[in-house]
Amino acid sequence: MSLTWSAKDHKNMSQPAATGQKRSRNDTGNKVSVVLGAQWGDEGKGKVVDLLATEADVVCRCQGGNNAGHTVVVDGKEYDFHLLPSGIINSKSISLIGNGVVIHLPGLFEEGDKNEKKGLKGWEKRLIVSDRAHLVFDFHQVVDGLQETERQAHEGKTIGTTKKGIGPAYSSKASRTGLRVCDLLGDFKDFSMRFKNLVRQHQSMYPALTVDVEDQLKKLKEYSERLRPMVRDGVYYMYEALHGSPKKILVEGANAALLDIDFGTYPFVTSSNCTVGGACTGLGIPPVNIGDVFGVSKAYTTRVGIGAFPTEQLNAVGELLQTRGHEVGVTTGRKRRCGWLDLVIVRYAHMINGFTGIALTKLDILDVMDEIKVGIAYKVNGKRIPHFPANMDVLHKVEVEYETFPGWKTDTSAARKWNDLPAKAQNYIHFIENHIGVPIKWIGVGKSRECMIQMF
Ligand code: GDP
Ligand code: IMO
Ligand code: MG
Repeated sequence: MSLTWSAKDHKNMSQPAATGQKRSRNDTGNKVSVVLGAQWGDEGKGKVVDLLATEADVVCRCQGGNNAGHTVVVDGKEYDFHLLPSGIINSKSISLIGNGVVIHLPGLFEEGDKNEKKGLKGWEKRLIVSDRAHLVFDFHQVVDGLQETERQAHEGKTIGTTKKGIGPAYSSKASRTGLRVCDLLGDFKDFSMRFKNLVRQHQSMYPALTVDVEDQLKKLKEYSERLRPMVRDGVYYMYEALHGSPKKILVEGANAALLDIDFGTYPFVTSSNCTVGGACTGLGIPPVNIGDVFGVSKAYTTRVGIGAFPTEQLNAVGELLQTRGHEVGVTTGRKRRCGWLDLVIVRYAHMINGFTGIALTKLDILDVMDEIKVGIAYKVNGKRIPHFPANMDVLHKVEVEYETFPGWKTDTSAARKWNDLPAKAQNYIHFIENHIGVPIKWIGVGKSRECMIQMF
């Protein structure tokens, strides 16, 4: 076999793998649309994905785990998804959990069963799980808690994680001692031996950790049989989806740009890439197949957990946003910290992700404000800085430059078209659009599916 590429090899590779429409040699295949959080999470990604998923053939999660909490409201019924892609609600589309996701199996089945009671039917038949995805074990979640206790004891502060075992599971993956779905479904004796080693490794780091290994293995064996029918080679599945007949493929980002392990407010971040690169590495798809990248931002800013938050309002404004916006974490039930919209962070998220459109959610929450502020620049020692600071000491000290807008003091929740919005709200939105330099495609004015103004 030749070790160099020839035109013939290239021709063979570009043939569609699945049945359906033939493609030309230069056709790179279907494009995927990616929905990503542009702030610190909880921007309303679930709602945007739900909107797009009504027409999607495949909806994928590519990173994170059940630290995510995505809310979808349809026909007055509220669903919350943590590991399941929000598209699971669409009975005509396939949902895929990619290799970049870390899966806690008890959490996955509990979530499915809970939503089944709310009316979600047939989800197990519509779900595909990559065999390369890593597993989160119960002890990873315990270790997550122990690490937080240690941080508090030694540094006087925690990260405020969701305690879903995300950091410890991605650490196992990076240490090359982690266990994947394909390991669980392979030789169980070998899996058991590696599981025991992994437990021992963690117990040597955390002597307080107790694990009933036999009980865990028994449960994992049971889960493995329920999981088996859903498992596929994720890379090949995506290859077929990209190169078969024309398909609408959607990627649902979890967490958000400012929580990204590389680009977020480190160390107060999560442990995966929540920016656009995570879509490629978390699904095994080439960058050329990335089409639209939609950034989701609230019309103000929230953050759960610890870390710098330059536009935070620890006053009546912050309290009003928290109560009116029902700003409570979907996964942990913690109150979200609230502040004015920070366009420095949204622009920074755009530098990394190259957004082609923005969904601006929760405009309705601002309806009662007398005046509304927007953070447009950071100053250090009186001078504007052009970049987003990497160092948290600097971020804690930045002075925010604001632009102030008059409130529109009108209920926008019934608006369904641009012209239904008051002029002052239109002015606020235009300013945001111009400042980010990305068209606003959707404006959210309420929780449910129909409460969205589509601009183009
Ligand atoms: P995600 O993690 O980005 O999917 O967002 P979450 O579901 O954690 O949090 C967003 C919250 O805002 C949920 O309770 C949504 O139902 C709600 N929501 C989304 N868009 C809007 C909107 O335009 N207006 C209002 N009032 N609520 C919204
Ligand atoms: P969705 O997808 C908001 C935050 C946690 C904590 C930090 C690390 O709903 O937007 P982790 O458990 O990941 O190790 O916690 O990241 N965090 C989120 N905050 N929304 C999320 O997801 C989050 N996922 C993680 O609060 O500060
Ligand atoms: Mg959320």
